[in-house]
Amino acid sequence: RKFVIPYEQIGEEKLSQLIDIFYKNVAKNPLLKPIFPDDLTETARKQKQFQTQYLGGPNLFSQEHGHPMMRARHSPFPITPARAQAWLECMSEAMDEVGLEGPFREEYFKRLVMTAHHMVNTPDDEE
Ligand code: HEM
Repeated sequence: RKFVIPYEQIGEEKLSQLIDIFYKNVAKNPLLKPIFPDDLTETARKQKQFQTQYLGGPNLFSQEHGHPMMRARHSPFPITPARAQAWLECMSEAMDEVGLEGPFREEYFKRLVMTAHHMVNTPDDEE
């Protein structure tokens, strides 16, 4: 079977919708809201760039911001296991809302679970 680049599978428009809904969910989440800026416009713009390259599309994030170093970029924020879980729930709900399903969604979400766990830098009880 022909290999399809995940970014081509989801497409720019659906990815953009996914990220917008994701940050709408983040803004309502009591664990996440306090560590994010009030205005999430720039955060969403960067996340769209990052997810584009994470899914095999053009390297938009690196072109503008350099090497991703995602764990290092998250080090100023207390990322607890509970926050990783909350982040993933916001994403799962956004995936429901844009109608992502099937093997594509499962693979994408599995990768995000691994990346989210990799970002954890603070135990739940030290927050
Ligand atoms: C930035 C939290 C997981 C990708 C940020 C910021 C926060 C944050 C607070 C800064 C926002 C800003 O100042 O604009 C979290 C939490 C996570 C998590 C609590 C839970 C595990 C992830 C994952 C990815 C990711 C799994 C990628 C798959 C990014 C990107 C940025 C970012 C691309 C922008 C970096 C930059 O400013 O250059 N995150 N994040 N994050 N996060 Fe996360």
